[in-house]
Amino acid sequence: MTYNNIKLGVTLLILTLLSCSSPKEILVTEKRNDIDQKVDSVMMLMTLDEKIGQLNQYNGFWDITGPVPKEGHAAKKYDDLRKGLVGSMLNVKGVKDVKALQKIAVEQTRLGIPLLFGFDVIHGYKTISPIPLAEAASWDLQAIQKSAEIAAEEAAAVGINWTFAPMVDISRDARWGRVMEGAGEDPYLGSLIAKARIQGFQGNLSNKNIIACAKHFAGYGFAESGRDYNTVFVSDDVLHNIILPPFKASVEAGVKTFMNSFNDLNGIPATGSSLLQRSILKNNWNFKGFVVSDWGSINEMIPHGYAKDSKHAAEIAINAGSDMDMESYAYIDHLKALVNENKVDVALINDAVRRILKVKFELGLFDNPYKYCDEAVEKATVGKSEFHEGVLDIAKKSIVLLKNDNQILPLKKSGQKIALIGALAADKTSPLGSWRIGADDNTAISVVEGMKNYPNNELTYAKGADVAIGRTQFMWETKINTTDMSGFDEAIQIAKKADVVVMVLGEHGLQSGEGRSRTDIGLPGVQQDLLEAVYKVNPNIVLVLTNGRPLALPWAAKHIPAIVEAWHLGTQSGNAIAQVLYGDYNPSGKLPMTFPRHVGQLPIYYNHKNTGRPTMNEPEIVFWSHYIDEKNTPLFAFGHGLSYSKFEYSNLKLSSNSFSVIETILVQVELKNNSAVEGKEVVQLYIRDMVGSYTRPVKELKGFEMVTLKPYESKVVSFTVDAKMLAFYTANNIWEAESGNFKIFVGGSSDNTLESELIFNN
Ligand code: NOJ
Repeated sequence: MTYNNIKLGVTLLILTLLSCSSPKEILVTEKRNDIDQKVDSVMMLMTLDEKIGQLNQYNGFWDITGPVPKEGHAAKKYDDLRKGLVGSMLNVKGVKDVKALQKIAVEQTRLGIPLLFGFDVIHGYKTISPIPLAEAASWDLQAIQKSAEIAAEEAAAVGINWTFAPMVDISRDARWGRVMEGAGEDPYLGSLIAKARIQGFQGNLSNKNIIACAKHFAGYGFAESGRDYNTVFVSDDVLHNIILPPFKASVEAGVKTFMNSFNDLNGIPATGSSLLQRSILKNNWNFKGFVVSDWGSINEMIPHGYAKDSKHAAEIAINAGSDMDMESYAYIDHLKALVNENKVDVALINDAVRRILKVKFELGLFDNPYKYCDEAVEKATVGKSEFHEGVLDIAKKSIVLLKNDNQILPLKKSGQKIALIGALAADKTSPLGSWRIGADDNTAISVVEGMKNYPNNELTYAKGADVAIGRTQFMWETKINTTDMSGFDEAIQIAKKADVVVMVLGEHGLQSGEGRSRTDIGLPGVQQDLLEAVYKVNPNIVLVLTNGRPLALPWAAKHIPAIVEAWHLGTQSGNAIAQVLYGDYNPSGKLPMTFPRHVGQLPIYYNHKNTGRPTMNEPEIVFWSHYIDEKNTPLFAFGHGLSYSKFEYSNLKLSSNSFSVIETILVQVELKNNSAVEGKEVVQLYIRDMVGSYTRPVKELKGFEMVTLKPYESKVVSFTVDAKMLAFYTANNIWEAESGNFKIFVGGSSDNTLESELIFNN
């Protein structure tokens, strides 16, 4: 046992020795549950105040290397820190500042317990990867893991040891601005991506890794009407079969922390839900890490109408299993009194402290509290060139080719006049997207810059129109709902002279994310008018979309020959887009979320139920489940994504058409690349359970394979289907595969599959 923190280390050693009868026994005990024993030893030394302090997380509050404010919250926080009444800080970054704070915790407090430093490293720290929704479109788990590794290494180098990521909330509603932060609408894909991200962040907890946080537990992505923080009502079926699987997968991947959520779930705020935090997470799933509240979410139980005041909120939260209080001050202000009044059992506090200390031990902070505080590493690491290569790689893989009529793409590399239009084409900040608080503005490669890497074409640029930005996180933008069309003429003039027009339109990076719900998910401002005006003079348009959520663009889908979904791709955005447009990278992304025709279709998702009236054969009859003014089908379905190659599916075969619980079925399909271009295809396997104790979705993703094929090459792609794959949370409240008829679908998109039938006998 070696502790750099001498004060605590010596005491711990003595306590360990005292609690064992012989040196041999020490060794055996240490082997058995080394960390638990160390945690116990520390806890024996702690006062109740110090224990409550470990449950207290404060936001960064002053220039710690400069003068300390004498009054207000900031002064109290500083005092609390010195008294050992703080367990973690958030939003402190940079080795100098982290080290200074850690020094206070370790050298000036009575016990010297190190701090955790949390930060929202959502898709990179300074070198920014695509937004998580975009990365999900890659379906490339290795690349996603790599991206999280890069983010972790860069964040770790600046002193951060805990990221509030991944967000594993499933969402079906593109109005919700935070869909950009998740992996889309599917629980199976979402679970695999959650695991990949956690593995990437946490790795083996070396000094290049940081601990991860699965959030927001739970239901936050199902906010009514897509309005952020709104109420959530979901059935047991949806909770267990759709919302919870990625969280369970996170526990299985060894995630060290969870964050609860702001929302009211079926009448109880998630922060105060012991069903979620105690029964499901800690008991059923045996989660050994700790739960941090979301920012102020303990006190938000007051406006929710669930707690009468902050003290009551603290009582509810600790009882429900929220271990750490982020910025409500409810625990630090009230827990001691609640214990003294016998309203809170001290065992609950002990449990929460034990969980937090355990994570600190596992991370190695007791051995070396300055593990993440090396200025030389910071200097050598931040922004290093390998990171740029890594984020470029995942950026290319995240792009989805939505439409490509007449093979207008890829662009020819020479002899072409290209008109590039749109404010977002020249923007060097927007591609960084939302939730990139460690990155500096103006650091992304713009599309204009990326396109200039292909100098043998004649490139002209015109802005056309501003993007109406609306309210951003940090400021009130002045360009709200701009009606300014004064730039249209210039755009029209360059379009007239061009062979191909590339228009970069969509949302600004800060138009999605937390607090950015939208009721209109078309192109903001006058961009739609610009698109139509340019189309009139030159319809040969490649529309490059940059956005943080699915958009409803029916006019574009009908008229524009090529549409490229480029999301917010991060620091290397412009290079990635140019390489795809010019065919140096053959697009391979597939949508992780349905694109609607109209906002009125929301929530829309591929794994919907069938209803009792799915279709009606006679066109005159109106009494079936549909809209009288719009189709039911999406504009672009979940799983959709084209390539410059032409993939063809045939010969779907099952090794048998019935099987039992001890058997497996081999599903095989032939995939041919019927083109002269090498390409990569995500082959998707879906099932449908025809009759269930709960009604079952019309399709559920259960497997996928990424296959690269040379020109005109064919391959047989195989999947194994077993009972586990057919299991779901049934009306009997257990996970089980129910006997009966199933369908198996394989294809390149949820709406374009071959199918076969299968019988399962439990
Ligand atoms: C609120 C957000 O909901 C959460 O995701 C984030 O981690 C915290 N703020 C801390 O910034």
